[in-house]
Amino acid sequence: MNAIIHLEDIRKSYFMGKQELQVLKGINLDIHTNEYVALMGPSGSGKSTLMNILGCLDSPSAGRYVLNGQDVSKMADDNLADVRNKEIGFVFQQFNLLPRLTALENVALPLVYAGVGRKQRTEMAMEVIQKVGLEERSHHKPNELSGGQCQRVAIARALVNNPSLILADEPTGNLDTKTSKEIMDIFTQIQEAGNTVVLVTHEEDIANYAKRVVRLRDGLIESDTRKPELVGV
Ligand SMILES: Nc1ncnc2c1ncn2[C@@H]1O[C@H](COP(=O)(O)OP(=O)(O)O)[C@@H](O)[C@H]1O
Ligand SMILES: [Mg+2]
Repeated sequence: MNAIIHLEDIRKSYFMGKQELQVLKGINLDIHTNEYVALMGPSGSGKSTLMNILGCLDSPSAGRYVLNGQDVSKMADDNLADVRNKEIGFVFQQFNLLPRLTALENVALPLVYAGVGRKQRTEMAMEVIQKVGLEERSHHKPNELSGGQCQRVAIARALVNNPSLILADEPTGNLDTKTSKEIMDIFTQIQEAGNTVVLVTHEEDIANYAKRVVRLRDGLIESDTRKPELVGV
């Protein structure tokens, strides 16, 4: 079993008083290294909940999650945070950049937490900033950057630790069509460079960049399809 993500009967419920809301109702899914997966489904179907579990931001109520060979389903929050910092690069719809830091400083931030020294941090951050084509903007703060540029910063930040998995929840949700294409081209580059990419979108155009589409409905996987040109390869 060389799946980077292995999910067995993953369930997640929220309680509103005594009322149980079942959001994920038994998800089974394997994702292998270097796959490019789009997670789709109507609003409220559980996409973000599943992504948060995949990204170790949240734990399932039941079921088993093996990430890169490590069972993380019942891990305590501290250990989960360690795994998250090491294994996962997360990109959000809202960019989630720190407004007082420059692009370079935002990108270098995960390295601060990882205990990397200043000089090496700057070098590593600059390298990924170049990858996303933002070297000219590295000393600008988020409010001096366009939405697309902010998302590039967020992608560079997700890459800087060299994580085994890149997760993106509606990464183009706040961007116009042209900028969305530019951002999706970056995800394609990232995947072609050997990374594993899982992204959530409700737009077919965006899902088309991926090579496998998993559809959720009502907390269950409704379909799981690979691009025809890849079948049998
Ligand atoms: N922290 C929470 N507490 C209670 N209900 C939640 C919480 N997070 C999500 N939900 C509910 O779970 C369902 C699925 O949400 P979500 O995973 O965000 O769906 P999607 O991303 O597919 O739109 C929704 O009905 C939502 O209201
Ligand atoms: Mg969502």
